[in-house]
Amino acid sequence: MTPDAVTPLRLAVLISGRGSNMLAIARACREGHIAADIVTVLSDVPGVAGLDAARELGLPVACIEGASFRAEGRFDKPAFEAALCAAIDASQPDLIVLAGFMRVLSPAFTARYAGRLLNIHPSLLPAYKGLHTHERVLEAGEHWHGVTVHYVTAELDGGPLLGQARVPVLPGDNVASLSARVQRQEHILFPLVIDWIARGRLRWNDGSPQFDGVTLTAPRHLEDASAG
Ligand code: GRF
Repeated sequence: MTPDAVTPLRLAVLISGRGSNMLAIARACREGHIAADIVTVLSDVPGVAGLDAARELGLPVACIEGASFRAEGRFDKPAFEAALCAAIDASQPDLIVLAGFMRVLSPAFTARYAGRLLNIHPSLLPAYKGLHTHERVLEAGEHWHGVTVHYVTAELDGGPLLGQARVPVLPGDNVASLSARVQRQEHILFPLVIDWIARGRLRWNDGSPQFDGVTLTAPRHLEDASAG
């Protein structure tokens, strides 16, 4: 299968920081490994490394600064999300990719983009929703950890699970070593799931996603996925 057999999917990538997943997706697009193009990179934090890296690649970037929607200690989330939606919609994306975007989005936002919104979460969901997953996995003495790509719904880290990659937790691991091992898998898994969608293999199907026409009852695992 060659990527040029299908119309490239238009991606809006939302970031809040380093942007290593955005870069992995950008690389996969450029090298023709996935049938997609990044049409905008949006950050809610100015000056982050991911924005600079996207600019260097010549990608269109914009910052919708979250902090500028805060006044007298109150965050005006509807106004922030309205500005974010305007920026997203201006680029006419097929898919909106949350790649380390560190904000909880409202039900109105997730409903607006239902079936077009993906997130990557550093745990084997449904285990370890929320923040500080690597710390929590180490504290719990788990033997396995990993990463999940899922559709986003109103439930935090709770939408349909699409793809997962597992990594072992090794003796002597710390947060840095474990998160680096997880991130190597993130950079393979996220482009792959996007490519499944671009090729029509993975479909939202009103919230009961199907892969090759079969309803997904569990996320596809990277080792099986790379074989097929
Ligand atoms: C990743 O670990 C991802 O799983 C989580 O946020 C982090 C973003 O990293 N959602 P980066 O900015 O892509 O390097």
